[in-house]
Amino acid sequence: MKAVAVFPRTKEVRVIEHEAPCITELGQVKLRMLDIGLCGTDKEICAFEYGTLPAGSDYLVIGHESLGEVIEVGPAASRVKVGDLVVTTVRRPCSHPECRPCRAGYPDFCITGDYRERGIKGEHGFMTEYVVDDERYMHVVPPELRDVAVLTEPLTIAEKALDQVRHIERRLPWLNTVIPEDMRRLPLTAVVLGAGPVGLLGAMTLIVAGCDTFVYALVPAPNPSSEIVEAIGGKYFSQGKVPVEVQKALSGRIHLIYEATGASRLAFEVLKLLGPNSAFIFTGVPSLRGPIEVDADLLMRNIVLKNQIVFGTVNASSENFDEAIRDIGVFHQRWPQALRALITSRSAPEEAPGLLLGKIGGIKNAITFNNEV
Ligand code: BGC
Repeated sequence: MKAVAVFPRTKEVRVIEHEAPCITELGQVKLRMLDIGLCGTDKEICAFEYGTLPAGSDYLVIGHESLGEVIEVGPAASRVKVGDLVVTTVRRPCSHPECRPCRAGYPDFCITGDYRERGIKGEHGFMTEYVVDDERYMHVVPPELRDVAVLTEPLTIAEKALDQVRHIERRLPWLNTVIPEDMRRLPLTAVVLGAGPVGLLGAMTLIVAGCDTFVYALVPAPNPSSEIVEAIGGKYFSQGKVPVEVQKALSGRIHLIYEATGASRLAFEVLKLLGPNSAFIFTGVPSLRGPIEVDADLLMRNIVLKNQIVFGTVNASSENFDEAIRDIGVFHQRWPQALRALITSRSAPEEAPGLLLGKIGGIKNAITFNNEV
């Protein structure tokens, strides 16, 4: 079957003939792949800066943001049935007995680093015609979300981040007495850095959670991302163009900064603006380009004197996938056009190497298998 693979030794990215997988274990399920999203991680793998080959293979089939249709189920698989649409998680646990997160079903918090990730680290990915995996890693998507469900995996980043924020908020006892468990009605002010898919999906999640949300990105408005931000009720500002009255209004009032650029200099500049008792969430993974100067004394003073929390988040749990599917449904109801506008292209697998090696324009580009282009 057809697959898109990266060959680090010969520095190639191309469509290959890859052996089709078969169900070999009772709980496994076979999928016909529909949409596979392309992201910055795939670009880095294709630039040979990231990614690990599966043992014994000289190539890695890429692709980790996926949507597939169940075409066959093993005899012990009971959660999914033929015809279901499913999104499959990316990370698989390490095998070390002492890794409590992996043993508890949370490989997204793996402590040994020996986890595997489909399409990224040690396991072939989803940019191929058929995939077999254990049903425990699959999450069923309602059929009406067929067109947008490939956005589930990038949305899990925001779901995990907000989940963490909800736990962290519990450190503020006076809030616990007034707000319900769920922070959906909290009148918080949030700033999202970056207007790519992770930033925009983060903004949607924050707006649905009741936050007054500002998105800050490089490109001046109007542009496709700024239009999405406006359509969902957020406020878009571009670099160097934040009006003084907005700066004043935000000063000391930013409760949450959701970083989705991987640009460390920008992140640490904006960290200075974080308000008291607030949280800064890093989601971007910068390339390692050597040390940069940051105003460390000011940042440290603020972090201490303002009780701030700065944390990073990667990957997501099974619960976060369910939350993402639920929220994609909410976004689809609330902003059907804006949500669809996030997917700017769907191309055949033959186009994938060009898209990944060239400059990918648009917001979320997807590869579509099985003649659905
Ligand atoms: C993927 C995550 C993965 C991370 C690090 C991201 O692009 O969405 O699933 O854990 O890269 O490899």
